[in-house]
Amino acid sequence: MTVRVGVLTGGGDAPGLNAAICGLGRRLVEADAELIGFADGWRGMLEDDTRDIKNWNFQHLLVHGGTLLGSSDAYPYRDPDVMVPKVLATIKRHRLDALVAIGGEGTLGAANRLFQEHQVPVVGIPKTIDNDLDATDFTFGFFSAVEVATRAMDDLRSTAESHSRVMVVECMGRHAGWITAYAGVAAGAEGILVPERDAHIEALCQRLEQVRNGGARHAIIAVAEGTRVYEDGECLSPSERDEWGNYQVGGVAELLAQKVAAKLRWDARSLVLGHLQRAGKPLAFDRIFALRLGARAARLVLEKKFGRMAAMQAGEIVDVPLADAVAARKVLTSAFLDKYESFFLPIGEL
Ligand code: F6P
Repeated sequence: MTVRVGVLTGGGDAPGLNAAICGLGRRLVEADAELIGFADGWRGMLEDDTRDIKNWNFQHLLVHGGTLLGSSDAYPYRDPDVMVPKVLATIKRHRLDALVAIGGEGTLGAANRLFQEHQVPVVGIPKTIDNDLDATDFTFGFFSAVEVATRAMDDLRSTAESHSRVMVVECMGRHAGWITAYAGVAAGAEGILVPERDAHIEALCQRLEQVRNGGARHAIIAVAEGTRVYEDGECLSPSERDEWGNYQVGGVAELLAQKVAAKLRWDARSLVLGHLQRAGKPLAFDRIFALRLGARAARLVLEKKFGRMAAMQAGEIVDVPLADAVAARKVLTSAFLDKYESFFLPIGEL
């Protein structure tokens, strides 16, 4: 009997999603399995909205950014009593032998719970530009986002130099500083601020003073959107939290630019890179990485190894329990922060 496999892409899109579908689709087609696409992540499962992808030319998907299946923040555990039965009914209606969920902590967290609590035969593929999933060295989309942020900082140097300005560049990553740290180090930013270390205005100004005293007429500060900012021991960042209990993110670059301009009398501007970091074609690395993850996920399906996720460990494509990937958020390690210590601002108040 033909193996029937559902696939969905959930959460914020990331360059490489289509390449992952390509790897999955090609391997499944070779094995005569049938692939059924669900539209807009969990929304497609909740509302039984499918995409006929049987005739897609999977090879052509490789280069496309975004996700041709569509994505959304729909999440079956937002209202489990009502929503989970709908997902289970869709699985039954389509006689799915497996469901491949491509996503980050929200999408894969739901997939893991469906596996643990209802024995849904799920396989996961990790994606997020934030790189904050555990049990994998990297997630695809991350290096594409880093490239966008790095090039933006490189380019900003000329205008910052012309106007003798400080440019504060806000990168995505929610509560993890991976994009900011990699791009900031690569672009030689004069200061990097990440959520893993609270930022203190006093320390930032002292760093910029040193830079100015060293003869520089401009500076680039890379800041992660989730960084919490303090001044005179008081937190200046918003105290509102989202539905997951996390602090709301965003607006930190403008706050820092205003403080720098006022305190140092050094003209400062802010730039939020925003969704550009998720936009466009994936880097070659992300295409190949996602393709390999997709192929591994197909193998897991065909071997009936459910509740597992394709991953990269020590550069090799492996598979790991899905539960390991979603147990804790992967943030910048102290080893990383120590290695690049000179780029980051000192911890705590001065
Ligand atoms: O999780 C990926 C991410 O790009 C975060 O870095 C960012 O905070 C968020 O998504 C933005 O999401 P939205 O598409 O809802 O604006």
